[in-house]
Formats: sequence, C-alpha cells, structure tokens
Amino acid sequence: MNRAVQMDDAPAPLGAGVFLQAGNGRHLLGLDGVPRESLLDLLASAARYREKLRTPRWISDELRGIAICNAFFEDSTRTRVSFELAEQRLGAIHTTFIASGSSLSKGETMLDTLRVLTSMRVDLVVVRHRSSGSPAFLARHLGAGIINAGDGEHEHPTQGLLDLLTLSDAWNGRFEGRRFGIIGDITHSRVARSAIFGLRTLGAEVVIAGPPTLIPAEAETLGCTVATTIEEAMHGADGVMALRIQRERMEGGLLATLGEYARLWGLTRERIAQMRPGAVVLHPGPMNRGVEIAPDVADGSESRVLTQVENGLAVRCAVLARAAAAIGEGS
Ligand code: CP
Repeated sequence: MNRAVQMDDAPAPLGAGVFLQAGNGRHLLGLDGVPRESLLDLLASAARYREKLRTPRWISDELRGIAICNAFFEDSTRTRVSFELAEQRLGAIHTTFIASGSSLSKGETMLDTLRVLTSMRVDLVVVRHRSSGSPAFLARHLGAGIINAGDGEHEHPTQGLLDLLTLSDAWNGRFEGRRFGIIGDITHSRVARSAIFGLRTLGAEVVIAGPPTLIPAEAETLGCTVATTIEEAMHGADGVMALRIQRERMEGGLLATLGEYARLWGLTRERIAQMRPGAVVLHPGPMNRGVEIAPDVADGSESRVLTQVENGLAVRCAVLARAAAAIGEGS
C-alpha cells in the first residue's frame, strides 16, 4: 500500500467544482454542484481545443510562464499523459512527480511533499491520490490552484467532462430526454460519481446497475434510478458505460468471481442490442476485456473508448486554460 497518507493528511470535506462555480477560482475539485452553464462553457471550450489539436503540429503559448506540477500518488496512464500533453501543447512549464521513487518512502507526507514542490514557484498542481478529499485538503493548505485528477472514491472531474463531451457529440448536444446506463461498482467509482453529477445537471436520466453489494445506499439521493438487472438498465438507453472491475473488491468479498461478474454484468453484443439505435458504449479504462466488456463490444462500432481518450486531451486543455486564466485574474 502507498504510504503517502500520514495522519496530518487526514481527508478534509471533499469540495466541488470550485472554479467552475465561482467563475474565477483556480481549483477544480469535482463536478458536484457545478452549474449547467459552466459545464456547457467548458465543453464548448474543449470542443474548440479538439479542433485545434487535430491540426498537425498545433502548439500555443497560451500558458507561457505558467508552471504546472502533475503530482501522481497513484498509477495512471490516460490522465497523466493527457495532462502532460495538454500542458506541452499550451506552452506551460511542467513537471511530473510520481510517488514511486520519491522521498515519500522516507516518511515525507503528501502535504510536505506538495509544499516542497509548490515552493519551486508552481502555479497549478494536478493531483491524483487514493485518498478521497486530498485535493480539497491541498486547496486549503497551498497557494497553488489544484486540479483533481482522481481522488479515491470521490470524484474524477476531468474524466466526467470528457465523458460528457463524448456523449454531447453522440447526442447532438442534447442531454434532456436521454437515458444513460452505468454498470458495475458504483459505490467505489469516482468516475461514476463525476458522470452522475454532470449528466444530472445537464438533464439526462442516469440508470445504475451492478452487484447489490456495490450499489451505494444514497443512489437515489444522487438522482439515479437503480435497475436490478443489466437488461433493465440498458433497455431503451442512449448509451452505457461499463466501469472497470477493481479486482481488490473480490478479495474484500464484495464480488464473486470474474466469470460470474461477466455473466451477470458484462457488456455483450446481445445486451447492447437492447439500446436505442445510435446508442454508444463508453469505458473509462483500463478495460478488463472479457469481464466488464466483451472484446467485440470494446472494439465494435458503438464503442467510443478511444474517442473518450481524444476528448480527454481537449478537456484537459480547456480546464488548464480556465485555471490559468483565473490565476491571471488574481483569484
Ligand atoms: N480513466 C482513467 O483515469 O485512466 P488512468 O487511470 O489511466 O488515468
């Protein structure tokens, strides 16, 4: 287990999309409570960046002079690399801190580590940590802007935004009247929470389904409908997202076997055929092929898995640009 969290790093109240709510803040801690107009503005900005990024050799100096530290206390492929590429495309000064091989192994705490890093005149910190609430905690203790790149079981706001952008394209920008299924371990999924907050704010219906041990008690408070079977969740849906099975949940007794999971909750061609024509399949990655998603679904025409990755780069450009603008405004 990563020893990054010491007693003085105790999780704080989680916090939400501070910069999006305030309009001039520097932090993005979550999508909970972010107003509809702010979400739509950010999606529009990401769509513009996506067009620019499709231009060969496109590079900008929009973030020239802004120093960004990507602080990853937990493994990542998509999120870390796309933040790094976004920072490079926008001309920022940037560095990436990875927990393994750092002085955390000598007992330095997360907060002390970030104090060290931000003392090197860092303006923005992109942080991933297994502890829910760590970005909110850092936002209170550091002068830099904090962007949550995934915190424990709380939120993954840039993943939520890239999922919204992917669905916006599939749904011609109209979320009202749309029905979206999220299948799997909802209780422990920061991806599901950010998607639910964003989709509900934009007016889509969210239906969740999964093993009963992995459906949160507060599902209805989140504004979701709970389905008891995957077929019920997918029937007539405009899209579905399979969540990654976290194998450690099996050790905790919350799941039976991978085979049993695939049989009851896996996305198969037969199951996705129950959705509406034009419906799309999302997965945040990394995928367990043959478990939560069949290979022919992952690679099928309905799959938007790699579109999500492309959109992730554009969304991260938009979020970094907004946060940097807020720094320029002196918030
Ligand atoms: N979706 C996601 O957060 O992927 P990574 O863990 O690879 O960043």
